[in-house]
Amino acid sequence: MSIPMHALLPSSPIVPVVTLTDATHATALADALTAGGISIIEITLRTPEGLKAIAALRDRTDVVVGAGTVRNAADVTAVAEAGARFLVAPGLSREIVEAAQSAALPVIPGIATGSDLLEAIALGLTHVKLFPAGALGGLDAVRALSAPFPEISFMPSGGVTAENAPHYMRHEAVFAVSGSWMVPPDAVEARDWRRIERLSRAAAEAVVGDGA
Ligand code: 3PG
Repeated sequence: MSIPMHALLPSSPIVPVVTLTDATHATALADALTAGGISIIEITLRTPEGLKAIAALRDRTDVVVGAGTVRNAADVTAVAEAGARFLVAPGLSREIVEAAQSAALPVIPGIATGSDLLEAIALGLTHVKLFPAGALGGLDAVRALSAPFPEISFMPSGGVTAENAPHYMRHEAVFAVSGSWMVPPDAVEARDWRRIERLSRAAAEAVVGDGA
């Protein structure tokens, strides 16, 4: 069994979801996030540059780099080879979970229903991504799904904002929040690393400052 995802989380339990169209931006982006107090990054496979960006950051010791939008076992193999230290999937797939477990990579699959959670538990998981959290009802969805599954920890993602992140974190079943609000695509495109640093700092302070 792999290292649990929560063991990889640094002091701020915020996982930025990053989609890059140019992997040469990876280092500057990681610098901006870490300067803002965030030291974990999920880089999605939504662009061909995603794998390259993960590989570009594989030797960084100041940031934990994982892969997002992992959709099959071949993706698991590819991100493991690129140096990803965890992976996130948009849904629950036995193929992905078993491939990640074989590769000793922490895996956080997306779940949206009680049925998904029954399957996640059968696969030996305790940490899942609640996705798309906002569309599912936000904090009400966390409350509803955690009642019958008190052993499960959730990472809400999808529609998480600077404003609602602290509310999610106050729920005892939430171990982290994830989202793209501190890495707006237009800021990445414009290489506005100062803006990303500011947004990251505000996110980290909002969550930690909230006592979460
Ligand atoms: C995603 O799948 O893109 C993540 O859940 C982040 O969603 P967000 O862009 O709404 O923060």
